[in-house]
Amino acid sequence: MNMKRRTIVALPGDGIGRVVLEETIRLLGHAGFEADYVEGDIGWEFWKREGNPLPDRTIDLLEKHKIGLFGAITSKPKDAAFQELDPALKEKGLVYSSPIVGLRQHFNLDICIRPCKTYPGNPLNFIRRGAGNAIEEPEIDVVIFRQNTEGLYGGVEWSNPPDLVYQGLASHPKFVKNFGHVPKEELSVSTRIFTKKATERILRAAFEHARRYGYKSVTVCEKPNVIRETSGMMYKMAQEIQEADFPGTELWNTNIDAQMMWLTKNPENYGVIVAGNMFGDIVSDGFAGLIGGLGFACSANLGRDVSVFEPTHGSAPKYAGFPESIVNPIAMVESACMMLDHIGEPGISKKIRGSIARVILEGRVRTYDMMKMSGSADVIGKGAASTRQMTDTLIENL
Ligand code: NAI
Ligand code: MG
Repeated sequence: MNMKRRTIVALPGDGIGRVVLEETIRLLGHAGFEADYVEGDIGWEFWKREGNPLPDRTIDLLEKHKIGLFGAITSKPKDAAFQELDPALKEKGLVYSSPIVGLRQHFNLDICIRPCKTYPGNPLNFIRRGAGNAIEEPEIDVVIFRQNTEGLYGGVEWSNPPDLVYQGLASHPKFVKNFGHVPKEELSVSTRIFTKKATERILRAAFEHARRYGYKSVTVCEKPNVIRETSGMMYKMAQEIQEADFPGTELWNTNIDAQMMWLTKNPENYGVIVAGNMFGDIVSDGFAGLIGGLGFACSANLGRDVSVFEPTHGSAPKYAGFPESIVNPIAMVESACMMLDHIGEPGISKKIRGSIARVILEGRVRTYDMMKMSGSADVIGKGAASTRQMTDTLIENL
């Protein structure tokens, strides 16, 4: 038995991120997870006060303790961000950038895992018509592996590109043919860069997960017939890796557009899905919608050294100021379960997921999203459970 007491860096962030993290930590204690928590400053408050939403002291904490449990942050467009900055800092030429993206880049958290699994009895589960007009509720168990640092979100982009870049582009015959007549000032260019190293890491992580947890297939969800270089490289590498090291796992290949259509047709057929940054983002939101949406969508960002676990949802500022919080804590709790699996506490995560399954199946306690209400402060008066009541019920069912 591993009796070492862990230190977890708790990163509450903004808005509902604070509530769901606090409740999740309370639940973890009841579930028998013994840990010390140190709080890391992150988010809007620190941007306003210090001009940095991700202070160095937070980076240091993660460097030291390796594991972060993150709620959510508020981001705003450049101009709005500047407006809210402490007047004393306004002269400094500071530019706001998202601290979660900053974390992913600083620690090279290149592997993003987003599981989407149906809980029987969840009123938000996807249903469809089957043969003879029957209503079917497919059980979905998909895990999306999204490359988290490169591709279209890599940040290498220009409007009115500098001469060197323009000359580089103009050396490509397709550029000359399709864009050669466009004035440089009218061009905006975003790049989609894939490296072999990062592509191999996400592919291997996907195959290893499939083997370890018994998934039949790994699907590369890209568009290699059109995006030949990047998507093409990923699929080719997947073939090589599968042949050499994972012959027991099937390799499938779908195009992102077709995959989004098949999503509602046969989502139960898929197991592990692997994709680049943007297509991974899209396909994981698509699958999350089939299992309950933002109140249920969890994720892990894994680097070689540091890992951060977070729900997919944001800070939902609309709901942040309610006297009693109404949001669903399950996405955050599930993210904590991913953390437990990662640090070698699968017994505790199993217990927590068992409790979630019982509470959902029983259906007595449901947050507003599960009751298909629109969010407002009075949903509790109408029978929806508060964040705290839901957490209490999960604790009772452990
Ligand atoms: P959001 O995810 O915060 O909220 C969108 C809507 O989803 C909410 O209004 C609510 O109806 C629902 N929702 C979200 N979480 C829920 C939960 N736990 N239970 C029940 N319903 C839930 O996205 P939005 O409104 O687009 O962004 C709000 C702020 O969050 C922005 O500043 C945005 O930049 C930031 N954001 C941060 C993320 C992060 O910290 N990783 C991710 C996405 C957005
Ligand atoms: Mg997204």
